[in-house]
Amino acid sequence: MLAILGGTGPEGKGLALRLAMAGETPIIGSRDAARGTAAAEELAQSAPGLVIGGMDNSSAAAAADVVFLAFPYEGQRPVLEDLGAALKGKIVVCVIAPMKFERGKGASAVEVEAGSAAQEAQDILPDSQVVAAFQNASAEELLDPNVTMEGDVVVCSDHAEAKKLVMGLADKIKDLRGVDGGSLANAKYVEQITPLLVNINRIYKIHAGIKIMGI
Ligand SMILES: NC(=O)c1ccc[n+]([C@@H]2O[C@H](COP(=O)([O-])OP(=O)(O)OC[C@H]3O[C@@H](n4cnc5c(N)ncnc54)[C@H](OP(=O)(O)O)[C@@H]3O)[C@@H](O)[C@H]2O)c1
Repeated sequence: MLAILGGTGPEGKGLALRLAMAGETPIIGSRDAARGTAAAEELAQSAPGLVIGGMDNSSAAAAADVVFLAFPYEGQRPVLEDLGAALKGKIVVCVIAPMKFERGKGASAVEVEAGSAAQEAQDILPDSQVVAAFQNASAEELLDPNVTMEGDVVVCSDHAEAKKLVMGLADKIKDLRGVDGGSLANAKYVEQITPLLVNINRIYKIHAGIKIMGI
């Protein structure tokens, strides 16, 4: 069972939609159970036959064995410290790309002392298997079931089996491909591509993605 904490936002909703279209039955988590349920109902109507649940973050984390983090970086430490016990022994997929926006300068990466949001998540959750993935997937594209997702999902983790499972989830989303990005220490490079993509999107009025050539 998959849960997406912060799944009421565009990135989490988009991931829930694509994973449901791929045959999974994701649960959308929210700080407010009613918001989680409303987002799940809205998504389930966007394509026939989708099974998507909605709950509060805590119930969603307890119900799932693979838990996506799809809320802003500012929320990471408080949410993970609160839900640490429920996440013990589980795969935690960090989608977070710490970013800031400044007028006239566009998007830029926020420095994280641990190296990356994903490494910080692993430090907070030593008994979970943290996997960094999907940080470069555009929410706008994920959310439109008629758009073909092009590109690669670079997957980084220090837990080989967990990494393999998450690469498999990326592969299940039509036309996306999971690429082994090595250890969790590499997550910082992947996270920092996201503000670059945001700036490219503004210049070209597109939703850019990444593709690793030669594999
Ligand atoms: N948007 C993109 O295209 C994109 C692309 C790649 C990666 N990402 C990453 O994906 C994550 C989610 O992006 P998003 O654009 O969907 O974000 P968002 O809309 O700002 O937030 C998603 C959800 O997180 C919850 N939330 C907000 N602030 C929170 C806090 N301080 N603590 C706990 N929960 C909080 C809210 O849900 P409730 O109020 O219902 O709890 C909100 O609906 C971000 O970390 C971002 O870096 C985004």
